[in-house]
Amino acid sequence: MKIDVVSIFPGYFDALELSLLGKARQRGLIDLRVHDLRESAHDKHRTVDDTPTGGGAGMVMKPEPWGAALDAVLTADDAGDDPLVIFPSPAGDVFTQAMARELADESHLVFGCGRYEGIDQRVFDEYASRGRVRLVSIGDYVLNGGEVATIAMIEAIGRLVPGVVGNPESLVEESHEEDGLLEYPSYTKPATWRDRAVPEVLLSGNHAAITQWRQEQRVERTRRVRPELLPWALRGDTRGRHAADD
Ligand code: ADE
Repeated sequence: MKIDVVSIFPGYFDALELSLLGKARQRGLIDLRVHDLRESAHDKHRTVDDTPTGGGAGMVMKPEPWGAALDAVLTADDAGDDPLVIFPSPAGDVFTQAMARELADESHLVFGCGRYEGIDQRVFDEYASRGRVRLVSIGDYVLNGGEVATIAMIEAIGRLVPGVVGNPESLVEESHEEDGLLEYPSYTKPATWRDRAVPEVLLSGNHAAITQWRQEQRVERTRRVRPELLPWALRGDTRGRHAADD
């Protein structure tokens, strides 16, 4: 999978050199390129923002640097590639595990990280008229820019790319996967730590009993922490809460 990121803070993405994603990049499974938006700003001060037309607080990102940066990324594209451009935004569709699965099937993702009060609307309109564009939110809170949201999305999507996680079974037994329930609590050795014993059933060697206990824990935990996930999770609808709400 090819991923391009455009940002005025390329340093944020150093975190993606670590751990599983870093290894996947070294192994060529994920080709991630980070581009500094300021290099596409051609005035003396490399200006990327200006005051909002019509007045108001804060600054808006200018369209010209975005146009130059995105044109460069999109025209460098391989023939036949149909890139999806994602702008992280609190005004976008909410990112879910279902969306991560959908995006893991793409061959080329381009993330445009806005800052300040956002990007001039004409940038979205321009690229939506030329190809596929999505605004995506990682939750109902406001970040200072799209960088942290992009890192979260790349990590969630990247680990679903075949070969990135060594044991694909470990992807299935997780919160929000399979049947949409939260995951069961996990334990390792020692059997007792600070007077806290591992639940006896896990030491019993009875695999059917262990499977049943874990499933009960998942339902109980989901009921307690995220009751709104339960109705569709119990119906076995794996498309995700938001799809099921339609
Ligand atoms: N930019 C600022 N807040 C955001 C959010 N919640 N999700 C995605 N991008 C953002």
